Amino acid sequence: MAKFRIKRYNPEKQSDPYYEEFDYDIPEGATLLDCLNHIKWNMDGTLTYRMSCRSAICGSCGMKGNGHALLACQKQAAHLLKDGNDTITIEPLGNMPVIKDLATDFQQFWEKIDQVKPYLQNKEKPPELERGQSPQQFKKIDDATTCIMCGACYSDCNVLEVDNNFLGPAALAKAQRFVGDSRDKATRERIKELSKPGGMWDCTHCGECVERCPKPAEPFYRIKDLMAVGLKEGVTNNVGARHALSFVKSVKHSGRLNENKIPVESMGYFNIKGLLDLVPVGLRMLLKMKIPPIIHKPVDDVKDVQRIFEEFGE
Ligand code: SF4
Ligand code: SF4
Ligand code: FES
Repeated sequence: MAKFRIKRYNPEKQSDPYYEEFDYDIPEGATLLDCLNHIKWNMDGTLTYRMSCRSAICGSCGMKGNGHALLACQKQAAHLLKDGNDTITIEPLGNMPVIKDLATDFQQFWEKIDQVKPYLQNKEKPPELERGQSPQQFKKIDDATTCIMCGACYSDCNVLEVDNNFLGPAALAKAQRFVGDSRDKATRERIKELSKPGGMWDCTHCGECVERCPKPAEPFYRIKDLMAVGLKEGVTNNVGARHALSFVKSVKHSGRLNENKIPVESMGYFNIKGLLDLVPVGLRMLLKMKIPPIIHKPVDDVKDVQRIFEEFGE
């Protein structure tokens, strides 16, 4: 017998959310969605959530199971019972307002997808038949095209939790789908937009979206692709790109990070406001005695590190 501890909330009737528990003996092979359907159809018809395909295709049934976003129709309910624990906690997706119980408002999610212009931009005269692609060209966008817009990555993205302005993993994965498309002719404009605050460089590389994505879209890898295109295109007049370049420069030079130099190089030597913003952080580090050594020494085997850079043609 398992306990389904479900977060309930009807903003029209309740001031605060609460948890309600339902006991149900999970049948062999039942998904989390099968269990929710049983609860709704036999115990409490007011329980609200979205579903449609039951085959991990439509992206409707995104929710949180034991604290992590998942597709309810893809997850075996029994797999959520671990280490003798008999309770499964089910909550709505994060980083979105709740409409009712497990149904969330995707408005902002869609606005961010819209923001990256999710359509092909090509003003060249179309060929007689169609704009073709070789299998190799398609491979560059193959993973991104598998996104089913379930919102699992968006729900668990740590940056979105603190910065609502961040485009988020799903929109950035969608952006890569067009930046990487051999038929799209707006690469540079797209990359310039994506390099603005709230764009690709605001990702903290935590990888959570890769863990949560139920498809090969795995947004963080798409974001890395975007960053590589940004550097290749020379769109480097922004903090994120300068930070990446300074990182590489430091490791190549000394085998490790020069933590005195990287923040300054990332801000840009002529970015007076940005540099002034660093002062309070520097002072706090000084007070806590966490200032890195003023003389930055290379690691003993720095030549080995530099050989790795040469191998990769850097
Ligand atoms: S890797 Fe980036 S986009 Fe993905 S969850 Fe972490 S911060 Fe968000
Ligand atoms: S990238 Fe993955 S987790 Fe994010 S919306 Fe698309 S399918 Fe869902
Ligand atoms: S019901 Fe369609 S993805 Fe789960």
